[in-house]
Amino acid sequence: MNSFEEVYKEACENPESYWAEIAEQVHWYEKWDKVIDDSDAPFYRWFTGAQTNVCFNAIDLHVKEGRGEQVAIIHDSAITNSVSKLTYLELQDQVSRFAGVLSSHGVAKGDRVIVYMPMVPEAVVAMLACARIGAVHSVVFGGFASNELAVRIDDCEPKLIVAASCGLEPSRTVEYKPLLDEAIEIATHKPDGCVVLQRPQSRANMTKGYDFDWEEVMKTASPMDCVPVAATDPLYILYTSGTTGQPKGVIRDTGGGMVSLKWSMKNIYNSNPGDVYWAASDIGWVVGHSYIVYAPLFHGNTTLLFEGKPVGTPDAGVFWRVISEHNVKVLFTAPTAFRAIKKEDPTGQYLKKYDVSCLESLFLAGERTDPDTLNWAKEKLGVPVIDHWWQTETGWAICSNCLGIEQLPVKDGSPTRAVPGWQLSVLDEGGNEVKPGEIGALVAKLPLPPGTFPSLWNAQERHFDSYLKTFPGYYETGDAGYIDEDGYVFVMSRTDDVINVAGHRLSTGAIEEVLASHPDVAECAVMGVNDALKGELPLGCLVLNSGVDRDDQEIISECVQLVRAKIGPVAAFKLAVVVGRLPKTRSGKILRGTMKKIADSTEWKMPATIDDPAILDEIEVSLQSLGYAEG
Ligand code: COA
Ligand code: AMP
Repeated sequence: MNSFEEVYKEACENPESYWAEIAEQVHWYEKWDKVIDDSDAPFYRWFTGAQTNVCFNAIDLHVKEGRGEQVAIIHDSAITNSVSKLTYLELQDQVSRFAGVLSSHGVAKGDRVIVYMPMVPEAVVAMLACARIGAVHSVVFGGFASNELAVRIDDCEPKLIVAASCGLEPSRTVEYKPLLDEAIEIATHKPDGCVVLQRPQSRANMTKGYDFDWEEVMKTASPMDCVPVAATDPLYILYTSGTTGQPKGVIRDTGGGMVSLKWSMKNIYNSNPGDVYWAASDIGWVVGHSYIVYAPLFHGNTTLLFEGKPVGTPDAGVFWRVISEHNVKVLFTAPTAFRAIKKEDPTGQYLKKYDVSCLESLFLAGERTDPDTLNWAKEKLGVPVIDHWWQTETGWAICSNCLGIEQLPVKDGSPTRAVPGWQLSVLDEGGNEVKPGEIGALVAKLPLPPGTFPSLWNAQERHFDSYLKTFPGYYETGDAGYIDEDGYVFVMSRTDDVINVAGHRLSTGAIEEVLASHPDVAECAVMGVNDALKGELPLGCLVLNSGVDRDDQEIISECVQLVRAKIGPVAAFKLAVVVGRLPKTRSGKILRGTMKKIADSTEWKMPATIDDPAILDEIEVSLQSLGYAEG
């Protein structure tokens, strides 16, 4: 077996031969002309000229090779107390029939389909059915409000929307259909129709001739076979937060996405075909796309689709119940989930009730794993706990301890080293490489490995400006951090206005846009303040229009409602304070970073460019009224 060092060297020095060999494990109708196509650098493409199909590789290939009777998907709903299973053969039947439904509604290769569904197997069926006929899916997370859905409808212009009547949160039923109807009403682009899965917990009102009942249309559907598509064709668009209110439509390509994900299952997660793999995330996020749906299915695993929360459904033992009941070998979740469990059950009493000896490793991502949580999980579970760093844009890990290659020693607070295929550097503002241990911008040398985003939907210029312009020849990750003498990477913070709330990526700019639309708000600033459970929480400072003499609390609660209505409950925006003025530089830039440091009671320096230092004292007093800035 090769050491990590050897594999890393090979992937970096000979990327074309390295990935071409890996790609042999995938089914292609036609092989590539070029492994890496640099004809349009700095935009690179992988496996140009090749023809393949994602759905064939995720399902049909396994059926052909004898895995038809193996369970492909376990659906465990801790909210409805139910478990259901689909074998690869059953999944093939459902997916090929739903592909027929899509096709009978006029969806063809290249058309977009929005999937707005909770954690039900039909969501996976819809995604795979799109892939089967070469349609491009865009899954929208259920915690977003109509307005966010409308923005996505207008950007990717779907032919059809596939939705469910409701999602189930522990304390309430989220009615999806009224949100969907409102989004279509707001959007300029009008899809041709909607297919709606009627869940028994709440059935939706349907518009005849426009809304079609999933169950009804499936009864008469003719199965469709896989359609060959180009390796460079988009598999999906997944919107993620950027600096402004307009989300970025990250594109995943077909061939590169498949090769990298398949490779990662063995090399990073040390998972084998047939093993049960559980990514406790949501299909609305990139973790869900890559590790609930595609990677485990490419690898012939059994994937687990979990509807519930780490605590409260019904208690802090649910993760252990699921692991032991379904023989889970690898669990992948966000650190916030473990912080929630640790808070409720610090001594691990619930863990004692279950036999979780089947678990071989725990992977965490979405935010930096704090050493406390890492060590608690390691001690309680007795398995390797691996923090790994990645982004929607990359689709898979940039840094990880690659358990399937060689387990490296863990350093607290570090997602270990760059994964084979990734060449990382830390640069200062002038683009010069800094010394080991010094903080700067984390960048990756181009071309990026396969599976990373080839571009942003409808926004190639934004792609260039956001990621490729500042440091020519590199991809700017948007994260700051350092690399130590041993090559261990430490990811410390974002360099832009993105914050991370319970592993969910949010734009403070988008929240500010909503707050600024309140008639009494003159200007505002939103920052992510530290939170023991969710990592960060958005906190808004509001300056009111002169002459407004209403109660501050009334305005604040209207603002909280407005963010919930416009962005959605997932923004978790509940903290706001009215301030007299905002601290700015002499050129008018709001000093959000300094305000955050004051709120978090971390060390801060008076910015040399500040216009009026006295404002920071006022801000400190205002933040103290919310229980912050008290250190
Ligand atoms: N549909 C509708 N609403 C949703 C939703 C969904 N799919 N997911 C979350 N929400 C709502 C919640 O109900 C909550 O609403 P509320 O303000 O009415 O309480 C709000 O959005 C915030 O949700 P969340 O951040 O999940 O907080 P929580 O208090 O419900 O749970 C944790 C806290 C830590 C248990 C939870 O955040 C968690 O499990 N996080 C794991 C994160 C994760 O998997 N991230 C993916 C990256 S790997
Ligand atoms: P998302 O695109 O939603 O996956 O969010 C990506 C961002 O989450 C990254 O740019 C980081 O800021 C943060 N992130 C994800 N994983 C980690 C990690 N393991 N350590 C530190 N930050 C992380």
